[in-house]
Amino acid sequence: MSNEGKQKFDGYANQYDEWFMKNEHVFTSELRLFKKVLGDIEGKKLLSVGCGSGLFESYIDCSGVEGIEPSEDMGAIAVKRGVNVIKFGMIEDVELPENTYDIIYFNGSSSYMEDLTPVYEKSLKALKEGGKLILLDVPKESAFGFMYLLGKSLGTYNHEYLEGTMPELPYPIELASSGVWHSTEEKIEVLKNLGIKDFSFYQTLIKNPMYTNEEPEEVSEGYKSGGYVAIIANK
Ligand SMILES: C[S@@+](CC[C@H](N)C(=O)[O-])C[C@H]1O[C@@H](n2cnc3c(N)ncnc32)[C@H](O)[C@@H]1O
Repeated sequence: MSNEGKQKFDGYANQYDEWFMKNEHVFTSELRLFKKVLGDIEGKKLLSVGCGSGLFESYIDCSGVEGIEPSEDMGAIAVKRGVNVIKFGMIEDVELPENTYDIIYFNGSSSYMEDLTPVYEKSLKALKEGGKLILLDVPKESAFGFMYLLGKSLGTYNHEYLEGTMPELPYPIELASSGVWHSTEEKIEVLKNLGIKDFSFYQTLIKNPMYTNEEPEEVSEGYKSGGYVAIIANK
């Protein structure tokens, strides 16, 4: 799968950012979750795996943030936004220095990776003792996950059964279809098998998808209701 990530997002950089700009309340809700789970990053060394266009990083002080991104289109925008992209490539192909980062996060990128064990293992090794691995994603079991999986299996959201149930501007079908969509429990299991015992969880996008862009939502603890969920794994 050496070139899959590149193929998946190359050519979609503008569409990706535009989708968030048009779904501004969805973006604000996700940004609140992102900021909440990162916490105070002053003086810290961070790595954003699959940093994309650096859209979320453009709303924080990203002077201490390094990025890895396989899509040249997306990564070029991230560089302009101030992310130090250390590698235009897949996390699977990158060698990371051990005990180096305070925080390593995957914001939406695990959903485009088949085998999570080797990439999380590599990330945990690269964290300092006491560091945090943070995984933010649309859970497979959420209403958004169901919607994307249905779209993926049909190749479209345009189906009579979905009439009157869809958000005005759903996530581009090509990006929903190329997602692997893991469940939160699946990721917790992978991390437990890698020796993680200390977890915390936060979520947002609790409303059903067709209502989530009406207004920004608050962040709450837990992972069983949200359409966007963060797992914090403490090393
Ligand atoms: C949903 S986008 C999220 C982008 C960005 N983190 C954000 O939140 O706006 C997923 C990103 O993961 C990247 N990606 C996919 N497979 C990857 C891999 N194996 N290694 C690193 N990044 C990958 C994609 O190129 C894409 O930019």
